[in-house]
Amino acid sequence: MPSAPVQNDIASSNDGLPPRSVFSSRLGFVMAAAGSAVGVGNIWGFPTQVADHGGAAFILVYLLMVVVLAYPMLVAEMTIGRMAQKNPVAAMGSLSDKPFWKKTGAIVGVAGIITLSLIISFYAIISGWLLAFMLEPLAKLTGMTGLASWLTSFSTSLNLIAMVAFMALTIHVVRAGVSNGIERWSKKLMPMMFILLIGLVAYIMTLEGAEQGLTMYLKPDFSHILEPSLLVNAMGQAFFSLSLGVCAIMVYGSYLSEKESLPKTAAMVTALDTSVALLAGLLVIPAMTVAQANGVTIYAADGTLLESDTLVFTVLPALFNSMGAAGSIVAMAFFTLMSIAALTSAISMLEAPG
Ligand code: PFF
Repeated sequence: MPSAPVQNDIASSNDGLPPRSVFSSRLGFVMAAAGSAVGVGNIWGFPTQVADHGGAAFILVYLLMVVVLAYPMLVAEMTIGRMAQKNPVAAMGSLSDKPFWKKTGAIVGVAGIITLSLIISFYAIISGWLLAFMLEPLAKLTGMTGLASWLTSFSTSLNLIAMVAFMALTIHVVRAGVSNGIERWSKKLMPMMFILLIGLVAYIMTLEGAEQGLTMYLKPDFSHILEPSLLVNAMGQAFFSLSLGVCAIMVYGSYLSEKESLPKTAAMVTALDTSVALLAGLLVIPAMTVAQANGVTIYAADGTLLESDTLVFTVLPALFNSMGAAGSIVAMAFFTLMSIAALTSAISMLEAPG
């Protein structure tokens, strides 16, 4: 007699707990975890950190931090999640049999979730702006100039509405479940994001002024290499970029099939995340010097680079505006890229208590 169809979203039950969802394939897991890792931190945070901390000197220290600290930590978080097959608080609590350490583990899990709530509270606002900036060229092209200027106004109404719209989209994906929501969306969005990124890098490289950016990005200034701020920033960036220490990857690990090799899948996620950060540097830093060649100010009066939010929401839009008709398309592509990166990261933040 044919057996009943197996629902691939649900794993067999364990310890009398409700059945746990699973990713349906390794690719699905890697895309979802890379989706969590690749976010605003890669496309905006990494390039601006590089520009602020001695160019390629920062990149070298960052790569060292990724290999020596972040990658092992990623394997550890995924291992705890998959071994426990529980939500992060219960998973951390199950690491020991001793009541004191059980409680300590659970407290560490709760601290992770609290930190995540703090991250999502600013991430959602920034992501709302990214959505608004993505729609602005469309409003302009269709003659809705009032709407277009509201979308870039940073007014309280915009902050609120854009943030709610972004969170509604995130909730919509998370509610659809692990394989039907998170995995399905990540498998579609991540390749799209990659193609947009490559296309934008190729385009920016053809513009006047890109070469200076390339030099700024790739030439190491070793006088910075032992600065404590460089070391701390490189470590913080590596942890933030791989979504570590806040249980997001742990919960994804708890949905990963027993068959998959943890070191191998973690290596894939790390490689994807690092490649996107390196590529984003090839886009954002040359875009800044192209903007400078077009007469846009990128340095403050004291000679330091403008604040990173000014660079993304003022310098780059000014560059896109100076490009004429092509500028609207490039602006839309850039902010779509950023919005996708932000969405797949926010999804993992919302799923973390799962
Ligand atoms: N890794 C994301 C980024 O680089 O933007 C940020 C992030 C996502 C941090 C998910 C923590 C997290 F749980």
